[in-house]
Amino acid sequence: MKILVTGGTGFIGSHTCVELIESGYEVVIIDNLYNSSADVIDKIEKITGVRPVFYEADIRDADALDRIFTAHDIEAVIHFAGLKAVGESVEKPLLYYEWNIGGTVTLLQQMQKHGCKNIVFSSSATVYGAPKSVPITEDFPLSTTNPYGSTKLMIENILQDVHVSDPYFCAILLRYFNPIGAHPSYLLGEKPNGIPNNLMPRIICAAKGETEGITVFGTDYDTKDGTGVRDYIHVVDLAKGHIKALQKINTGKVHIYNLGTGVGYSVFELVDTFNKVNGTNVKKIICDRRPGDIAECYANPQKALDEIGWKAQLGIEEMCKSSWEFAKHQD
Ligand code: NAD
Ligand code: UFG
Repeated sequence: MKILVTGGTGFIGSHTCVELIESGYEVVIIDNLYNSSADVIDKIEKITGVRPVFYEADIRDADALDRIFTAHDIEAVIHFAGLKAVGESVEKPLLYYEWNIGGTVTLLQQMQKHGCKNIVFSSSATVYGAPKSVPITEDFPLSTTNPYGSTKLMIENILQDVHVSDPYFCAILLRYFNPIGAHPSYLLGEKPNGIPNNLMPRIICAAKGETEGITVFGTDYDTKDGTGVRDYIHVVDLAKGHIKALQKINTGKVHIYNLGTGVGYSVFELVDTFNKVNGTNVKKIICDRRPGDIAECYANPQKALDEIGWKAQLGIEEMCKSSWEFAKHQD
């Protein structure tokens, strides 16, 4: 079965391509390399022994997509391609609407033209806004606090609408929590462009000595130690969730799953675990809260276990270790 992976050379996409190939799927990738590089294709081949078909193209390019769908009998699309920086989305909302919404609409038009009726979409826990309680279940109210989050929620709604217009159209919405970690080969991992915003890439910068330490955004939250709590999930577990989700294609329904571990770790806990397992000495620099951050966010992942048999297997120590090993292998 052939799967088109948009954004397949990116962080989560590349790990998912490995899992797809190892599960026997044929993989076709489209990526414009805006936030990744073509050598990821070599690395996927090195890990799996199979070279995926790769098109360097933009999902907003209808002709490029038309050619891909004409050349390949695509059963389902796994749609990762998009921009993902919350802060940048506040500064450049139109860029985010153009790339994320415009790109998805063009993709869906081409899927419709070529009779492809299955899509797995990379949504985010950001669609829960500031949740009223934790752990979060899929039926929690949805809201957003920034343009990036709005694009995720709008795309979820677009996919629901397309399903209403065509009962054979199937969408699987995967709401990721906080992916970190790297492939055990240390060939694939997260390589953020420029100065990173997320906690783990910033811990890595500090561990490399590029920054003085990690800025802890707030120690006065109503959490176990006052710092923000998140559901960090190993990217390999997350990638495996996509393979499990493919069981639900061709069901003509919209399915929604949280992909998280169900366990929340604080900023202090993540930094301390990183230092412990890696023998590093990342310093914690206490700062004010970051505007827009919430105190706690972690999943109830029971629905994914019940309906697709998926459960995260890898723990926080493995996440910290593989993140650092991958970073060291880049030098
Ligand atoms: P990433 O930036 O590493 O990967 C995205 C890939 O898409 C990149 O390779 C980029 O070059 C490509 N791309 C972007 N716009 C494109 C376009 N218009 N046409 C073709 N290719 C394009 O990001 P990631 O962390 O792997 O995230 C993948 C998806 O998961 C994104 O949609 C993101 O919003 C979502 N997500 C990520 C997180 C996270 O914390 N990493 C959390 C929740 C949801
Ligand atoms: N944090 C720090 N210092 C830093 C960076 C982050 O203390 O230098 C804290 C934050 O305040 C938060 C936690 O670390 O408590 C995690 O922050 P991240 O920026 O790594 O992640 P967020 O939970 O804020 O957001 C991420 C993605 C969003 C996505 C969301 C849910 O950036 O795109 O997870 O999936 F929507």
